[in-house]
Order: sequence, then C-alpha cells, then structure tokens
Amino acid sequence: MVIYGERGVGKTSLANVVDSTVYVLDKAGKPPETVTRRLVIKSVANTEDTFSSIWHRLFSEFFWPDVSLSPDNPAYHRTTRDTFGLPETLGIDDVRRVLSSVSGMVFIIDEFDQASREVSKRFTELIKALSDLAVDCTIILVGVSETVDKLIEDHASISRAISQVKVERMKASELKKILETAEKALDISFAEDASNLIIHLSQGLPHYTHLIGLHAVRSAAARLSLTTVERDDVFEALKTAVKQAEQSVAEKHTTATHSAHKSALYRKVLLACAVTAARNHDALGYFSPSSVIEPLADILKKTVTLATFTNHLTDFSQEKRGSILERDGQPWGYRFRFRDPLLVPYIFMDGLESGISNAQGLVQMLGGS
Ligand SMILES: Nc1ncnc2c1ncn2[C@@H]1O[C@H](COP(=O)(O)OP(=O)(O)OP(=O)(O)O)[C@@H](O)[C@H]1O
Ligand SMILES: [Mg+2]
Repeated sequence: MVIYGERGVGKTSLANVVDSTVYVLDKAGKPPETVTRRLVIKSVANTEDTFSSIWHRLFSEFFWPDVSLSPDNPAYHRTTRDTFGLPETLGIDDVRRVLSSVSGMVFIIDEFDQASREVSKRFTELIKALSDLAVDCTIILVGVSETVDKLIEDHASISRAISQVKVERMKASELKKILETAEKALDISFAEDASNLIIHLSQGLPHYTHLIGLHAVRSAAARLSLTTVERDDVFEALKTAVKQAEQSVAEKHTTATHSAHKSALYRKVLLACAVTAARNHDALGYFSPSSVIEPLADILKKTVTLATFTNHLTDFSQEKRGSILERDGQPWGYRFRFRDPLLVPYIFMDGLESGISNAQGLVQMLGGS
C-alpha cells in the first residue's frame, strides 16, 4: 500500500492509526479469544538509508521465541537476525524469507520519499517477489508526493499488488472540527471571525490550524482572556508562527518579490494572490487570475485589469521567481495556487509590516472574517 500526498496533510497521522484500525477490523464479528493482534512495525526512512538498513531496523523491533527454553530465560527472546541467520547486508530473498514465516505482518515505512531511488527500486522488486509468491504481508510506504510514480520507481510493474491512498487537503468543516475539539478540551471558545480566519489561513493543512490555533490561544491567555479567542489574537499568532517559520519561507518570499524598481508590483500582486487564496472557497487553494483583480485594486487603490498583473502571475510560476505559485490548467483557463501554503500567512505579515496593508484593510479584504 502507498500513502502519499502533500507535506503536512496528515499522512503520518493516518499511518499511525493503521495498527488500531486493522485490529478493530480483524476482530469484527469474531470471538475475542480467537483474534491475535497482528504485528505492525513502523520505521522512518532517511537519506542515508539502504534497503538493508531499513529492514534491519524494522527487524530489530521484534523478537522470536526460542520455544526450547523457558520464557524466563533471557535467551528466550531471539533477534530476527539470529533466528534467521541473516547477513550484514540484507538482500530481497533474506527479507522475503522472514516475511513468509509469519502471516499477516504489517510494515510501515514513513518518509519514504527521503530514501534514494536505489532503495525505491529494491522495494519495488521486493513487493513484486512477495506478490508473485503470494506472501501474506503488507508493506505501507508513506511519503510526500503528488503522484505514486514520483514516490515509487517503476510502480507500474507492481500496480496490481499495491493500493494507493492519496491524502488530500482537509475541508474547512474538518479544520473547524480541530478547533472545536480544542474548545472543548480547553473550555474556551473561538470567536466566529477568529475561527474563520484560522481556517482560511490554514489552506486545508491541519498543521497550520494547530500552529496558528495554539498561538492564538496563547495570545488570548496573555491578555488574560480565558474565555474567548478573538481575531486580534489570530493576528498576534501569525507573528509568532511566521517567526518560527523556516528560513526557507522567508527566502522564497524574497526570491519571488525581489526587484530593482521601488515601484515594482511583485510584492503587492503576491499579497493580492495570498488574499485571494485565503478567501476563496477552493479547498485545494486554487484561484483564478480574475479573482485577483478585486484584492489588487483594494491594495493599489486604483482600477486594475488582468493585463496589469498577468505577467507577474506567470513569473511567479517560473523558476526565476522561485516557482512560488503552481500553475495548472490550459492557457485559456490557468489557475494558480501557492506551492508552500506557509507563505500565505507569511505574505500577510509582510504586507502588514511593510505597510502595504493594515490589519483592518486585510480583514476587510478577507471578507470581513
Ligand atoms: N485527522 C486529523 N485531525 C486533526 N489533526 C490532524 C489530523 N491529521 C493530521 N493532523 C495534524 O496535522 C499535522 C500534520 O499531520 P502529519 O504529520 O500526519 O502530516 P504528514 O502528511 O505526515 O506531514 P509531512 O508531510 O510533514 O510528513 C499534525 O500536527 C497532526 O496532528
Ligand atoms: Mg509525516
């Protein structure tokens, strides 16, 4: 199985509930004493990993009983390596031998996109071998990717053996539930405009709902308001969240907006795009060029046409400006979205600090929320 999707959408969280979900499904309708819990083992891949190092790590997470000994004997628990006489460098056959010996094992490898292409190739071969030999075992590969074939080398050759789960961005209603859970747990409430703003800013990514929500609650607490989180708390929260933003976010912003001319529009067009992305209703954060006209007119305080900024949008989607926007669709109907959603709050902060916009103006542009 492959779990894939953008950064921060909830892939790891989904993988973390595999163990309990599988258990509930396994025991449904059966007498409890007949259900044995499956072995679900998880590991996180890194750039240094080899096929062998990943499997040694997974195998080191569990032991095998030496039934000739008493369970009290320290030697009763034998390592996978000793039990199967495994070599230093594991090959596909070594792994297959272990996996064939117990049915129903589940192995989860998170951050699989960090591993090299070589590792990915070896996993493809392993999955093919397991499938050809009908070994009852599940391998779950989890990673950041737009498509499965970017995550797994040659996935077509094993397409019948894998199921693909794409984790999408969350809907506004789902993000709202996160805030509602916090309200109940902390016995506070988010003012409606505060909660709407957080949801808009999060762009479908639960990570940002947690992050901005957390700092907004802290801001309310600092005001000694222990009951309500207000819109201004969200603005305070943005400042903290942006300070904690990776340096890469600030760098991407500079790359996108640098200009030799003081009057250059880039920064303002980008703010208008961020406003558009935050206030529109596309759960995936896409916006059309025409929807940028109104916010840009508000920022520039003059009439704007598509021709004013079409080139800027195109530039933002190209490498020289850091490909800050992603462009999708056909030339007669392009749509755009921010490649890294943390840039949206960052751009708001930049807009406030540099005086391109003020808090009230920004809130008005965001639809009064
Ligand atoms: N169903 C959910 N409800 C509430 N919060 C969630 C849910 N799923 C994920 N989150 C939160 O969203 C954040 C990101 O989730 P997670 O780490 O699982 O994403 P990811 O896709 O693995 O990210 P990355 O690409 O960085 O590895 C975490 O703070 C997590 O608690
Ligand atoms: Mg993750």
